[in-house]
Amino acid sequence: MKFGIIIQVKLFEDVKPLPENKPKFVHIATWGCQMNDHDSEVMRALLEQSGLVWTEDVEKADLVVLNTCSVRKSAEQKVMGFLGALKHLKESRPEVIVAVGGCMIQNQEIMKQLRKAGHVNIIFGTRSFHRLPSLISRYNKTSAQVVETDLGEQPPGALPAHRDSGIKAYVTIMYGCDNFCSYCVVPYARGREKSRPLTEICEEVGGLVASGYLEVMLLGQNVNSYGKDLPGKVNFAALLGELDRMPGLARIRYMTSHPRDFSDELIATIRQSHKVCEHFHLPLQSGSNSVLERMNRGYTREQYLQWVAKIRSVIPAASITTDLILGFPGETEQEFQETLDLVERVRFDAIYTFLYSPRPGTAAAVMPDQVSGEVKKQRFTRLTETQNEISLEINKTLVGQDWEVLVEGKSKTNPERWSGRTRTGKIVVFKGGDDLTGKIVDVAIDCAQTWNLIATLKNIRIKEESLPLKRTYNV
Ligand code: SAH
Ligand code: SF4
Ligand code: F3S
Repeated sequence: MKFGIIIQVKLFEDVKPLPENKPKFVHIATWGCQMNDHDSEVMRALLEQSGLVWTEDVEKADLVVLNTCSVRKSAEQKVMGFLGALKHLKESRPEVIVAVGGCMIQNQEIMKQLRKAGHVNIIFGTRSFHRLPSLISRYNKTSAQVVETDLGEQPPGALPAHRDSGIKAYVTIMYGCDNFCSYCVVPYARGREKSRPLTEICEEVGGLVASGYLEVMLLGQNVNSYGKDLPGKVNFAALLGELDRMPGLARIRYMTSHPRDFSDELIATIRQSHKVCEHFHLPLQSGSNSVLERMNRGYTREQYLQWVAKIRSVIPAASITTDLILGFPGETEQEFQETLDLVERVRFDAIYTFLYSPRPGTAAAVMPDQVSGEVKKQRFTRLTETQNEISLEINKTLVGQDWEVLVEGKSKTNPERWSGRTRTGKIVVFKGGDDLTGKIVDVAIDCAQTWNLIATLKNIRIKEESLPLKRTYNV
Protein backbone atom coordinates (compact mmCIF):
# COMPACT_ATOMS: atom_id res chain seq x y z
CA MET A 1 0.00 0.00 0.00
CA LYS A 2 1.51 3.28 -0.98
CA PHE A 3 0.80 6.63 -2.51
CA GLY A 4 2.28 6.54 -5.96
CA ILE A 5 2.52 10.25 -6.25
CA ILE A 6 2.64 13.02 -3.76
CA ILE A 7 0.97 16.04 -5.18
CA GLN A 8 -0.14 18.95 -3.10
CA VAL A 9 -3.81 19.13 -4.09
CA LYS A 10 -5.99 21.86 -2.75
CA LEU A 11 -7.26 20.25 0.38
CA PHE A 12 -10.92 20.24 1.01
CA GLU A 13 -11.02 22.84 3.68
CA ASP A 14 -14.79 22.91 3.40
CA VAL A 15 -15.01 19.31 4.64
CA LYS A 16 -16.31 19.65 8.16
CA PRO A 17 -14.03 18.50 10.96
CA LEU A 18 -15.17 15.18 12.26
CA PRO A 19 -17.77 15.73 14.99
CA GLU A 20 -16.31 13.13 17.33
CA ASN A 21 -12.78 12.07 17.98
CA LYS A 22 -13.21 8.56 16.67
CA PRO A 23 -12.14 7.92 13.09
CA LYS A 24 -14.75 7.87 10.35
CA PHE A 25 -14.50 4.95 7.97
CA VAL A 26 -14.98 4.87 4.22
CA HIS A 27 -15.63 1.94 1.93
CA ILE A 28 -15.70 2.23 -1.87
CA ALA A 29 -17.29 -0.56 -3.92
CA THR A 30 -16.24 -0.50 -7.57
CA TRP A 31 -17.65 -2.17 -10.68
CA GLY A 32 -16.51 -1.90 -14.30
CA CYS A 33 -13.29 -1.23 -16.12
CA GLN A 34 -9.80 0.01 -15.22
CA MET A 35 -11.05 3.60 -15.61
CA ASN A 36 -13.44 3.07 -12.76
CA ASP A 37 -10.83 1.24 -10.70
CA HIS A 38 -8.54 4.21 -11.08
CA ASP A 39 -11.26 6.79 -10.33
CA SER A 40 -11.87 4.86 -7.11
CA GLU A 41 -8.14 4.97 -6.29
CA VAL A 42 -8.31 8.74 -6.65
CA MET A 43 -11.47 9.07 -4.53
CA ARG A 44 -9.89 6.95 -1.83
CA ALA A 45 -6.76 9.13 -1.73
CA LEU A 46 -8.79 12.34 -1.58
CA LEU A 47 -11.07 11.03 1.14
CA GLU A 48 -8.11 9.76 3.16
CA GLN A 49 -6.51 13.18 2.81
CA SER A 50 -9.62 14.72 4.25
CA GLY A 51 -9.35 12.48 7.31
CA LEU A 52 -11.38 9.37 6.54
CA VAL A 53 -9.96 5.92 7.25
CA TRP A 54 -10.33 3.04 4.79
CA THR A 55 -12.25 -0.09 5.77
CA GLU A 56 -12.77 -3.31 3.83
CA ASP A 57 -15.85 -3.94 5.93
CA VAL A 58 -18.86 -2.16 4.50
CA GLU A 59 -20.83 -2.73 7.72
CA LYS A 60 -18.29 -0.64 9.60
CA ALA A 61 -18.24 2.24 7.12
CA ASP A 62 -19.59 5.72 7.86
CA LEU A 63 -19.39 6.60 4.18
CA VAL A 64 -20.16 4.01 1.50
CA VAL A 65 -19.34 4.98 -2.08
CA LEU A 66 -20.60 2.97 -5.06
CA ASN A 67 -18.61 3.56 -8.25
CA THR A 68 -20.89 1.99 -10.82
CA CYS A 69 -20.69 0.50 -14.31
CA SER A 70 -23.37 0.54 -16.97
CA VAL A 71 -21.71 -1.28 -19.83
CA ARG A 72 -24.04 -4.29 -19.59
CA LYS A 73 -27.26 -4.91 -17.75
CA SER A 74 -25.60 -7.57 -15.59
CA ALA A 75 -23.24 -4.92 -14.14
CA GLU A 76 -26.17 -2.66 -13.29
CA GLN A 77 -28.02 -5.53 -11.63
CA LYS A 78 -25.06 -6.26 -9.36
CA VAL A 79 -24.91 -2.61 -8.30
CA MET A 80 -28.65 -2.47 -7.62
CA GLY A 81 -28.37 -5.63 -5.49
CA PHE A 82 -25.57 -4.08 -3.44
CA LEU A 83 -27.50 -0.82 -3.08
CA GLY A 84 -30.62 -2.68 -1.94
CA ALA A 85 -28.63 -4.44 0.77
CA LEU A 86 -27.41 -1.05 2.05
CA LYS A 87 -30.98 -0.17 3.12
CA HIS A 88 -30.50 -2.40 6.16
CA LEU A 89 -27.27 -0.64 7.04
CA LYS A 90 -29.03 2.73 6.84
CA GLU A 91 -31.87 1.42 9.01
CA SER A 92 -29.52 0.34 11.77
CA ARG A 93 -27.17 3.35 11.37
CA PRO A 94 -29.05 6.27 9.76
CA GLU A 95 -25.99 8.53 10.02
CA VAL A 96 -24.15 6.49 7.36
CA ILE A 97 -23.69 8.48 4.12
CA VAL A 98 -24.30 6.62 0.85
CA ALA A 99 -22.84 8.14 -2.33
CA VAL A 100 -23.55 6.65 -5.76
CA GLY A 101 -21.50 7.70 -8.76
CA GLY A 102 -20.01 6.47 -12.00
CA CYS A 103 -21.41 5.39 -15.33
CA MET A 104 -24.90 4.26 -14.23
CA ILE A 105 -25.91 7.80 -13.44
CA GLN A 106 -26.61 8.57 -17.10
CA ASN A 107 -29.39 5.98 -17.20
CA GLN A 108 -32.55 8.08 -16.75
CA GLU A 109 -34.60 5.24 -15.26
CA ILE A 110 -31.91 4.40 -12.71
CA MET A 111 -31.39 8.08 -11.96
CA LYS A 112 -35.11 8.41 -11.15
CA GLN A 113 -34.86 5.47 -8.76
CA LEU A 114 -31.75 6.88 -7.09
CA ARG A 115 -33.30 10.31 -6.64
CA LYS A 116 -36.30 8.72 -4.96
CA ALA A 117 -34.29 6.28 -2.84
CA GLY A 118 -34.32 7.63 0.71
CA HIS A 119 -31.03 5.95 1.51
CA VAL A 120 -29.00 7.57 -1.31
CA ASN A 121 -27.51 10.86 -0.07
CA ILE A 122 -25.13 11.86 -2.86
CA ILE A 123 -25.30 11.20 -6.60
CA PHE A 124 -22.28 12.15 -8.72
CA GLY A 125 -21.39 11.71 -12.39
CA THR A 126 -18.16 10.48 -13.96
CA ARG A 127 -16.71 14.00 -14.24
CA SER A 128 -17.34 14.84 -10.57
CA PHE A 129 -15.62 11.96 -8.78
CA HIS A 130 -12.72 14.17 -7.70
CA ARG A 131 -15.15 16.58 -6.06
CA LEU A 132 -16.60 13.97 -3.73
CA PRO A 133 -15.15 15.49 -0.52
CA SER A 134 -16.84 18.82 -1.24
CA LEU A 135 -20.10 17.06 -2.15
CA ILE A 136 -19.97 15.34 1.23
CA SER A 137 -19.43 18.68 2.86
CA ARG A 138 -22.46 20.08 1.03
CA TYR A 139 -24.54 17.16 2.22
CA ASN A 140 -23.35 17.62 5.79
CA LYS A 141 -24.59 21.21 5.73
CA THR A 142 -28.15 20.52 4.58
CA SER A 143 -28.78 16.77 4.89
CA ALA A 144 -30.60 17.08 1.56
CA GLN A 145 -29.71 14.78 -1.32
CA VAL A 146 -26.81 16.25 -3.33
CA VAL A 147 -26.81 15.64 -7.09
CA GLU A 148 -23.95 16.61 -9.39
CA THR A 149 -23.90 14.95 -12.77
CA ASP A 150 -22.56 17.58 -15.14
CA LEU A 151 -20.41 16.04 -17.88
CA GLY A 152 -19.27 19.33 -19.35
CA GLU A 153 -16.62 19.97 -16.74
CA GLN A 154 -13.02 20.30 -17.84
CA PRO A 155 -11.01 17.30 -16.68
CA PRO A 156 -9.27 17.79 -13.36
CA GLY A 157 -5.54 18.43 -13.19
CA ALA A 158 -3.15 16.06 -11.43
CA LEU A 159 -4.83 14.04 -8.71
CA PRO A 160 -3.42 11.80 -6.00
CA ALA A 161 -4.32 8.10 -6.03
CA HIS A 162 -4.19 5.34 -3.48
CA ARG A 163 -2.68 2.39 -5.33
CA ASP A 164 -2.56 -1.05 -3.75
CA SER A 165 0.27 -2.18 -5.99
CA GLY A 166 3.69 -0.61 -5.58
CA ILE A 167 4.76 -1.96 -8.97
CA LYS A 168 2.23 -1.03 -11.61
CA ALA A 169 0.03 2.01 -11.74
CA TYR A 170 -2.91 3.26 -13.76
CA VAL A 171 -2.54 6.73 -15.25
CA THR A 172 -5.50 8.40 -16.95
CA ILE A 173 -4.41 10.12 -20.15
CA MET A 174 -7.84 11.08 -21.44
CA TYR A 175 -11.42 11.23 -20.29
CA GLY A 176 -14.59 10.42 -22.24
CA CYS A 177 -15.24 8.97 -25.68
CA ASP A 178 -16.50 10.49 -28.94
CA ASN A 179 -16.91 7.31 -30.95
CA PHE A 180 -20.56 6.50 -30.32
CA CYS A 181 -20.40 2.84 -31.25
CA SER A 182 -24.10 2.09 -31.59
CA TYR A 183 -24.23 -0.44 -28.72
CA CYS A 184 -22.19 1.50 -26.18
CA VAL A 185 -23.16 3.60 -23.24
CA VAL A 186 -19.71 5.00 -22.50
CA PRO A 187 -19.93 8.25 -24.58
CA TYR A 188 -23.15 9.10 -22.71
CA ALA A 189 -21.76 8.10 -19.34
CA ARG A 190 -18.35 9.71 -19.66
CA GLY A 191 -18.94 12.65 -21.94
CA ARG A 192 -16.72 14.10 -24.67
CA GLU A 193 -13.08 13.22 -25.16
CA LYS A 194 -10.68 15.40 -23.23
CA SER A 195 -6.93 14.74 -23.19
CA ARG A 196 -4.70 15.61 -20.28
CA PRO A 197 -1.71 17.78 -21.21
CA LEU A 198 1.38 15.75 -22.10
CA THR A 199 3.61 17.47 -19.55
CA GLU A 200 1.10 16.80 -16.78
CA ILE A 201 1.05 13.07 -17.65
CA CYS A 202 4.86 12.93 -17.81
CA GLU A 203 5.12 14.61 -14.41
CA GLU A 204 2.70 12.11 -12.94
CA VAL A 205 4.62 9.17 -14.40
CA GLY A 206 7.89 10.74 -13.19
CA GLY A 207 6.45 10.88 -9.67
CA LEU A 208 5.42 7.24 -9.89
CA VAL A 209 8.87 6.15 -11.03
CA ALA A 210 10.44 8.13 -8.18
CA SER A 211 8.19 6.15 -5.82
CA GLY A 212 9.47 2.87 -7.25
CA TYR A 213 6.81 1.99 -9.82
CA LEU A 214 8.09 0.00 -12.79
CA GLU A 215 5.02 -0.20 -15.00
CA VAL A 216 2.32 2.24 -16.04
CA MET A 217 -0.97 1.47 -17.75
CA LEU A 218 -2.14 4.52 -19.66
CA LEU A 219 -5.91 4.71 -19.59
CA GLY A 220 -8.36 6.09 -22.12
CA GLN A 221 -11.39 4.68 -23.95
CA ASN A 222 -9.63 5.36 -27.22
CA VAL A 223 -5.98 6.19 -26.61
CA ASN A 224 -5.25 6.48 -30.34
CA SER A 225 -7.14 9.74 -30.45
CA TYR A 226 -5.12 11.16 -27.55
CA GLY A 227 -4.12 14.76 -28.20
CA LYS A 228 -6.65 15.59 -30.93
CA ASP A 229 -8.14 18.24 -28.65
CA LEU A 230 -4.76 19.60 -27.47
CA PRO A 231 -2.87 22.49 -29.04
CA GLY A 232 0.20 21.67 -31.14
CA LYS A 233 1.17 18.36 -32.68
CA VAL A 234 0.58 16.13 -29.69
CA ASN A 235 -0.59 12.59 -30.36
CA PHE A 236 -0.43 9.19 -28.67
CA ALA A 237 2.78 8.18 -30.44
CA ALA A 238 4.42 11.40 -29.18
CA LEU A 239 3.31 10.67 -25.63
CA LEU A 240 4.72 7.14 -25.83
CA GLY A 241 7.98 8.50 -27.25
CA GLU A 242 8.25 10.96 -24.38
CA LEU A 243 7.56 8.34 -21.69
CA ASP A 244 9.94 5.88 -23.31
CA ARG A 245 12.80 8.24 -22.46
CA MET A 246 11.94 8.26 -18.77
CA PRO A 247 14.79 6.70 -16.77
CA GLY A 248 13.72 4.09 -14.27
CA LEU A 249 10.45 3.18 -15.95
CA ALA A 250 10.46 -0.41 -17.21
CA ARG A 251 7.15 -1.00 -18.94
CA ILE A 252 4.45 1.05 -20.60
CA ARG A 253 1.03 -0.43 -21.36
CA TYR A 254 -2.13 1.25 -22.56
CA MET A 255 -5.83 0.49 -22.77
CA THR A 256 -7.73 0.69 -25.16
CA SER A 257 -6.93 1.45 -28.76
CA HIS A 258 -9.59 1.67 -31.46
CA PRO A 259 -8.77 0.07 -34.83
CA ARG A 260 -10.26 3.10 -36.63
CA ASP A 261 -7.52 5.41 -35.31
CA PHE A 262 -4.71 2.88 -35.39
CA SER A 263 -1.64 4.05 -37.30
CA ASP A 264 1.63 2.98 -38.88
CA GLU A 265 3.26 5.68 -36.77
CA LEU A 266 2.06 3.96 -33.61
CA ILE A 267 3.41 0.56 -34.67
CA ALA A 268 6.73 2.16 -35.61
CA THR A 269 6.91 4.02 -32.29
CA ILE A 270 6.27 0.83 -30.36
CA ARG A 271 8.88 -1.05 -32.34
CA GLN A 272 11.49 1.62 -31.66
CA SER A 273 10.64 2.01 -28.02
CA HIS A 274 12.30 0.06 -25.24
CA LYS A 275 9.49 0.24 -22.78
CA VAL A 276 6.19 0.04 -24.60
CA CYS A 277 5.08 -3.57 -24.28
CA GLU A 278 4.51 -5.69 -27.37
CA HIS A 279 0.88 -6.32 -26.57
CA PHE A 280 -1.88 -4.99 -28.81
CA HIS A 281 -5.39 -5.09 -27.38
CA LEU A 282 -7.34 -4.09 -30.45
CA PRO A 283 -11.09 -4.55 -29.95
CA LEU A 284 -12.66 -6.08 -33.06
CA GLN A 285 -16.27 -6.50 -31.79
CA SER A 286 -17.37 -8.45 -34.89
CA GLY A 287 -15.79 -10.13 -37.89
CA SER A 288 -18.71 -9.27 -40.16
CA ASN A 289 -18.64 -6.09 -42.24
CA SER A 290 -22.40 -5.66 -42.11
CA VAL A 291 -22.38 -5.95 -38.29
CA LEU A 292 -19.39 -3.61 -38.01
CA GLU A 293 -21.31 -1.07 -40.04
CA ARG A 294 -24.39 -1.37 -37.83
CA MET A 295 -22.07 -0.99 -34.83
CA ASN A 296 -20.63 2.23 -36.32
CA ARG A 297 -17.10 0.97 -35.81
CA GLY A 298 -15.62 2.66 -38.87
CA TYR A 299 -13.44 -0.19 -40.21
CA THR A 300 -13.88 -3.41 -42.15
CA ARG A 301 -12.67 -6.94 -41.47
CA GLU A 302 -10.21 -6.51 -44.35
CA GLN A 303 -8.72 -3.39 -42.75
CA TYR A 304 -8.51 -5.18 -39.41
CA LEU A 305 -6.67 -8.11 -41.02
CA GLN A 306 -4.27 -5.66 -42.62
CA TRP A 307 -3.49 -4.10 -39.23
CA VAL A 308 -2.84 -7.54 -37.76
CA ALA A 309 -0.50 -8.43 -40.65
CA LYS A 310 1.30 -5.10 -40.25
CA ILE A 311 1.77 -5.55 -36.50
CA ARG A 312 3.12 -9.07 -36.99
CA SER A 313 5.47 -8.09 -39.77
CA VAL A 314 6.95 -5.19 -37.80
CA ILE A 315 6.87 -6.77 -34.31
CA PRO A 316 6.84 -10.56 -34.78
CA ALA A 317 6.59 -11.49 -31.11
CA ALA A 318 3.67 -9.16 -30.42
CA SER A 319 0.62 -10.61 -28.73
CA ILE A 320 -2.77 -9.54 -30.00
CA THR A 321 -5.97 -9.72 -27.97
CA THR A 322 -9.45 -8.45 -28.66
CA ASP A 323 -13.02 -7.83 -27.45
CA LEU A 324 -16.00 -9.36 -29.24
CA ILE A 325 -19.72 -8.86 -28.86
CA LEU A 326 -22.03 -11.75 -29.70
CA GLY A 327 -25.69 -11.41 -30.62
CA PHE A 328 -25.64 -7.80 -31.78
CA PRO A 329 -29.13 -6.91 -33.15
CA GLY A 330 -29.80 -8.69 -36.42
CA GLU A 331 -26.63 -10.85 -36.19
CA THR A 332 -27.38 -13.82 -38.46
CA GLU A 333 -25.74 -17.24 -38.31
CA GLN A 334 -23.78 -16.20 -41.41
CA GLU A 335 -22.54 -13.01 -39.74
CA PHE A 336 -21.57 -14.95 -36.62
CA GLN A 337 -19.64 -17.41 -38.82
CA GLU A 338 -17.71 -14.47 -40.23
CA THR A 339 -16.62 -13.61 -36.68
CA LEU A 340 -15.67 -17.23 -36.07
CA ASP A 341 -13.74 -17.21 -39.33
CA LEU A 342 -11.87 -14.02 -38.45
CA VAL A 343 -10.95 -15.40 -35.04
CA GLU A 344 -9.51 -18.48 -36.75
CA ARG A 345 -7.61 -16.38 -39.27
CA VAL A 346 -6.14 -13.88 -36.82
CA ARG A 347 -5.32 -16.42 -34.12
CA PHE A 348 -5.59 -14.04 -31.19
CA ASP A 349 -3.64 -14.76 -28.03
CA ALA A 350 -6.86 -14.23 -26.07
CA ILE A 351 -10.34 -12.84 -26.64
CA TYR A 352 -12.80 -11.23 -24.24
CA THR A 353 -16.30 -12.13 -25.38
CA PHE A 354 -19.47 -10.37 -24.27
CA LEU A 355 -23.12 -11.13 -24.91
CA TYR A 356 -24.77 -8.07 -26.42
CA SER A 357 -26.76 -6.20 -23.81
CA PRO A 358 -29.20 -3.51 -25.01
CA ARG A 359 -28.36 -0.20 -23.33
CA PRO A 360 -31.20 2.32 -23.03
CA GLY A 361 -30.52 5.48 -25.02
CA THR A 362 -28.11 3.85 -27.49
CA ALA A 363 -28.91 3.42 -31.19
CA ALA A 364 -28.63 -0.38 -31.14
CA ALA A 365 -31.13 -0.81 -28.31
CA VAL A 366 -33.97 0.07 -30.68
CA MET A 367 -32.68 -1.81 -33.73
CA PRO A 368 -34.93 -4.58 -35.05
CA ASP A 369 -34.26 -8.32 -34.71
CA GLN A 370 -32.77 -8.47 -31.24
CA VAL A 371 -31.11 -11.88 -30.84
CA SER A 372 -32.43 -14.27 -28.19
CA GLY A 373 -30.43 -15.08 -25.07
CA GLU A 374 -30.36 -18.74 -26.08
CA VAL A 375 -28.70 -18.03 -29.44
CA LYS A 376 -26.22 -15.63 -27.84
CA LYS A 377 -25.16 -18.29 -25.34
CA GLN A 378 -24.79 -20.97 -28.02
CA ARG A 379 -22.59 -18.65 -30.08
CA PHE A 380 -20.59 -17.82 -26.96
CA THR A 381 -19.87 -21.51 -26.36
CA ARG A 382 -18.86 -22.12 -29.98
CA LEU A 383 -16.56 -19.11 -30.10
CA THR A 384 -14.99 -19.80 -26.71
CA GLU A 385 -14.24 -23.42 -27.61
CA THR A 386 -12.56 -22.34 -30.84
CA GLN A 387 -10.51 -19.63 -29.12
CA ASN A 388 -9.47 -21.79 -26.16
CA GLU A 389 -7.85 -24.24 -28.55
CA ILE A 390 -6.03 -21.42 -30.34
CA SER A 391 -4.82 -19.82 -27.08
CA LEU A 392 -3.47 -23.16 -25.90
CA GLU A 393 -1.78 -23.84 -29.24
CA ILE A 394 -0.10 -20.42 -29.21
CA ASN A 395 1.01 -20.83 -25.60
CA LYS A 396 2.45 -24.28 -26.39
CA THR A 397 4.75 -22.71 -28.97
CA LEU A 398 6.36 -20.78 -26.11
CA VAL A 399 7.44 -23.91 -24.21
CA GLY A 400 11.22 -24.08 -24.09
CA GLN A 401 11.63 -20.32 -24.67
CA ASP A 402 13.08 -17.80 -22.21
CA TRP A 403 10.90 -14.82 -21.29
CA GLU A 404 11.28 -11.73 -19.18
CA VAL A 405 8.71 -11.46 -16.39
CA LEU A 406 7.84 -8.59 -14.06
CA VAL A 407 6.82 -10.31 -10.83
CA GLU A 408 3.62 -8.92 -9.33
CA GLY A 409 3.42 -11.10 -6.22
CA LYS A 410 2.39 -14.54 -5.01
CA SER A 411 0.04 -16.51 -7.28
CA LYS A 412 -3.52 -16.20 -5.98
CA THR A 413 -4.25 -19.86 -6.60
CA ASN A 414 -0.97 -21.28 -5.31
CA PRO A 415 0.92 -19.27 -2.68
CA GLU A 416 4.04 -21.37 -3.28
CA ARG A 417 4.38 -19.82 -6.71
CA TRP A 418 5.22 -16.34 -7.93
CA SER A 419 3.08 -14.72 -10.55
CA GLY A 420 3.96 -12.07 -13.09
CA ARG A 421 3.53 -11.08 -16.70
CA THR A 422 5.60 -11.15 -19.83
CA ARG A 423 5.80 -7.95 -21.85
CA THR A 424 3.21 -9.57 -24.12
CA GLY A 425 0.80 -9.70 -21.17
CA LYS A 426 0.88 -13.44 -20.53
CA ILE A 427 0.59 -14.62 -16.95
CA VAL A 428 3.56 -16.74 -15.86
CA VAL A 429 3.77 -18.66 -12.58
CA PHE A 430 6.94 -20.21 -11.18
CA LYS A 431 8.57 -21.36 -7.94
CA GLY A 432 11.70 -20.13 -6.22
CA GLY A 433 13.43 -17.08 -4.81
CA ASP A 434 12.73 -15.12 -1.63
CA ASP A 435 10.68 -12.01 -2.09
CA LEU A 436 10.53 -11.47 -5.81
CA THR A 437 7.68 -8.96 -5.85
CA GLY A 438 8.64 -6.07 -8.12
CA LYS A 439 11.67 -7.87 -9.56
CA ILE A 440 12.28 -8.43 -13.23
CA VAL A 441 13.32 -12.03 -13.78
CA ASP A 442 14.13 -14.35 -16.65
CA VAL A 443 12.25 -17.63 -16.79
CA ALA A 444 12.15 -20.69 -19.04
CA ILE A 445 8.64 -21.77 -20.01
CA ASP A 446 8.01 -25.43 -19.10
CA CYS A 447 4.33 -25.92 -19.59
CA ALA A 448 1.48 -24.11 -21.34
CA GLN A 449 -2.12 -23.77 -20.26
CA THR A 450 -4.92 -21.80 -21.92
CA TRP A 451 -4.56 -18.78 -19.65
CA ASN A 452 -1.22 -19.36 -17.87
CA LEU A 453 2.34 -20.38 -18.49
CA ILE A 454 4.27 -22.42 -15.92
CA ALA A 455 7.98 -21.72 -15.83
CA THR A 456 11.33 -22.22 -14.10
CA LEU A 457 13.20 -19.26 -12.66
CA LYS A 458 16.56 -18.72 -14.35
CA ASN A 459 17.82 -15.30 -13.37
CA ILE A 460 16.84 -12.44 -11.10
CA ARG A 461 17.91 -9.19 -12.71
CA ILE A 462 19.44 -6.54 -10.58
CA LYS A 463 17.91 -3.16 -11.22
CA GLU A 464 20.80 -1.90 -13.35
CA GLU A 465 20.44 -4.92 -15.64
CA SER A 466 16.72 -4.47 -15.90
CA LEU A 467 16.82 -1.03 -17.44
CA PRO A 468 16.73 -0.45 -20.29
CA LEU A 469 15.14 -3.77 -21.00
CA LYS A 470 16.17 -6.14 -23.69
CA ARG A 471 13.66 -6.58 -26.46
CA THR A 472 11.81 -9.88 -26.54
CA TYR A 473 12.05 -10.21 -30.31
CA ASN A 474 14.80 -10.01 -32.89
CA VAL A 475 15.07 -6.63 -34.50
N1 SAH B 1 -13.35 1.85 -25.32
C1 SAH B 1 -13.22 0.47 -25.34
C2 SAH B 1 -14.41 -0.28 -24.81
C3 SAH B 1 -14.79 -0.14 -23.44
S1 SAH B 1 -16.14 -1.15 -23.02
C4 SAH B 1 -13.05 0.05 -26.79
O1 SAH B 1 -13.66 0.58 -27.69
O2 SAH B 1 -12.34 -0.89 -26.95
C5 SAH B 1 -15.34 -2.76 -23.04
C6 SAH B 1 -15.99 -3.76 -23.94
O3 SAH B 1 -17.32 -4.01 -23.52
C7 SAH B 1 -16.15 -3.35 -25.40
O4 SAH B 1 -14.99 -3.51 -26.13
C8 SAH B 1 -17.26 -4.24 -25.87
O5 SAH B 1 -16.74 -5.46 -26.35
C9 SAH B 1 -18.06 -4.50 -24.60
N2 SAH B 1 -19.36 -3.82 -24.65
C10 SAH B 1 -19.60 -2.49 -24.72
N3 SAH B 1 -20.92 -2.26 -24.77
C11 SAH B 1 -21.55 -3.47 -24.73
C12 SAH B 1 -22.90 -3.88 -24.76
N4 SAH B 1 -23.90 -3.02 -24.87
N5 SAH B 1 -23.16 -5.21 -24.68
C13 SAH B 1 -22.15 -6.10 -24.59
N6 SAH B 1 -20.86 -5.77 -24.56
C14 SAH B 1 -20.54 -4.46 -24.64
FE1 SF4 C 1 -17.74 2.45 -26.35
FE2 SF4 C 1 -16.89 2.54 -28.83
FE3 SF4 C 1 -16.18 4.45 -27.13
FE4 SF4 C 1 -15.19 2.00 -26.86
S1 SF4 C 1 -14.83 3.38 -28.60
S2 SF4 C 1 -16.00 3.29 -25.24
S3 SF4 C 1 -16.89 0.71 -27.49
S4 SF4 C 1 -18.24 4.04 -27.88
FE1 F3S D 1 -18.36 0.38 -17.20
FE2 F3S D 1 -18.11 2.96 -17.42
FE3 F3S D 1 -16.01 1.43 -17.64
S1 F3S D 1 -19.73 1.76 -18.27
S2 F3S D 1 -16.82 -0.44 -18.49
S3 F3S D 1 -17.21 1.66 -15.84
S4 F3S D 1 -16.39 3.29 -18.75
